[in-house]
Amino acid sequence: MTSKQLKHLYFKFFQDRGHKLIPSASLVPENDPTVLFTPAGMHPLTPFLMGEKHPQGTRLVDAQKCIRTSDIDDVGDASHLTFFEMLGNWSLGDYFKKESIAWSYEFLTDKKYLGFDPSKLWVTVFAGEDAVSGQPGRQAGGRQGIPRDEESAGIWKSLGIPVERVLYFPRKDNFWGPVGETGPCGPDTEIFVDTGKDPCGPNCGPGCGCGKYFEVWNNVFMEFERTKDGRYIPLKQKNVDTGMGVERTVAMLDGAKTVYEIDTFQPLVKMVRERSAQFNEKSMHIIVDHVRAAVFLLADERGVKPSNVDQGYVLRRLIRRMIRHAKMIGFDLDNLPELAKIVIREYHVDYPELVRNVRVVEEELIKEKDKFLKTLEQGIKAFEKSTRSGSISGKDAFVLFSSYGFPLEMVQELAAEKKISVDVGGFQRLFEEHQEKSRTAAAGKFKGGLADHGEMTTKYHTANHMMLEALKRVLGRDVVNQKGSNITAERLRFDFTYPGKMTAEQIRQVEDIVNGEIKKNHPVHFEEMSVAAAKQIGATGVFEHKYSDTVKVYFVGDYSTEICGGPHVQNTKGMGLLKIVKEEASSAGVRRIKAVLTPDK
Ligand code: ALA
Repeated sequence: MTSKQLKHLYFKFFQDRGHKLIPSASLVPENDPTVLFTPAGMHPLTPFLMGEKHPQGTRLVDAQKCIRTSDIDDVGDASHLTFFEMLGNWSLGDYFKKESIAWSYEFLTDKKYLGFDPSKLWVTVFAGEDAVSGQPGRQAGGRQGIPRDEESAGIWKSLGIPVERVLYFPRKDNFWGPVGETGPCGPDTEIFVDTGKDPCGPNCGPGCGCGKYFEVWNNVFMEFERTKDGRYIPLKQKNVDTGMGVERTVAMLDGAKTVYEIDTFQPLVKMVRERSAQFNEKSMHIIVDHVRAAVFLLADERGVKPSNVDQGYVLRRLIRRMIRHAKMIGFDLDNLPELAKIVIREYHVDYPELVRNVRVVEEELIKEKDKFLKTLEQGIKAFEKSTRSGSISGKDAFVLFSSYGFPLEMVQELAAEKKISVDVGGFQRLFEEHQEKSRTAAAGKFKGGLADHGEMTTKYHTANHMMLEALKRVLGRDVVNQKGSNITAERLRFDFTYPGKMTAEQIRQVEDIVNGEIKKNHPVHFEEMSVAAAKQIGATGVFEHKYSDTVKVYFVGDYSTEICGGPHVQNTKGMGLLKIVKEEASSAGVRRIKAVLTPDK
């Protein structure tokens, strides 16, 4: 089976059952500063799972572009990918467990669809946590009362899955979501296919991870919302969110040993194999995985460009890691545009943005390659030198990053090849001293994330704090809360909660406050303190719950106090004049401001 066939079978199956096919959302989530990329099909649908009406109705089906970077180190093995497509069918307060499970069973076992032998299916359901009252909420001992999912187990048994193949697993296995700290979530039922491989040992079973039991589908019964204070409260409506990974499922259906054997990867692998001087499977896999992810990021509706911050930095790392592996196996980098074109050819029907942005993809890949190649050889020499002492110091790792553009994990990867260690802590200390760590990276969403340390971005970072304080003063301290921010050397973009459009007068007031405070030449400093102490002194900080116990609190004179990773300017002197160039709606109840700093003549 090809990926296209699987997708179309799936779409047709659910369209025949009243679902509307919706296009994939962008890989870059809007208004969620806690994740860099869309990690699952449900993420862009969050408002609708929470109760907002979806224009297409209450039954939806789609294939969503996803990126998960948490296991980037495993990419290159048989099944890990950074970019993948996730099939999903949704009920937004419409059908629930009975239909969801029955349809999954039919799609998986009916010969018209995937035709798996029902005797090979295993399922897991949520084992529950003390639910004294039978209702969600805190129960004795501080546990969450969410009942055992006997309903799903009963439905599986009624479909003919014998009781010994219905397993009850705890929260860590069978409870999904939320993405980030808060949001929709619920117990799930996971469906596994026994591949017929030998068991890995006496405890081999679904979820053991050895590969004998292949997880083909996850059906989440999203009926809870996790709140900021860690409670689970019932959502307005009961939803179904399901996920089936396209690449893995096609590989499984084809009996392939690795995901790289499926139809969409074949032409990529073939080209890399034919045009490389050496055969190295892992490097080839890394090249095709990373080039595919890079193409999708560059061509995304919210186009990502290589940079030193957030999504752009992940893209940069993917491209640079790919280049290093290409050099290792002698794959000529002049082939890069051609390789990208194969990705576009394979996916352009479902993702028209790839065709629209073909030029950007090609130009940016070449630009980033040229930039990296300029320093790569010298960087490798510097790396060799730094290994002489038998391990790599934090300082050397930092120099490799700052002078040669080697992302930390590339240094780690090079070091691992030589079986030597890297002082990551030392690197990070230096890094924090010298650089700005972006908020999302600071929140640990992407290990080793680094941020632009340019002078302008530092100024914008401080301007960001100053603007938040001014907005709170003008519009109301309690209504205005930061939802996200994005800073480049050219501008700052700032999302915050506020129910209506700002008037021209309010915009002017905010500018006047900020500019008046900048002119006071406030010194900026930080203090480290506990979260509790920070709260007590009234520090703002939307992400405080993500920080470890001790946080950095930045003071802009006596004007603004905010929890932040920094860094900031040392004094507001010379920041220039802040000008708000745009104020617009970003989503329901959220406004977006774009502002620039101009020299103060
Ligand atoms: N949201 C669920 C997952 O990603 C379906 O597995």
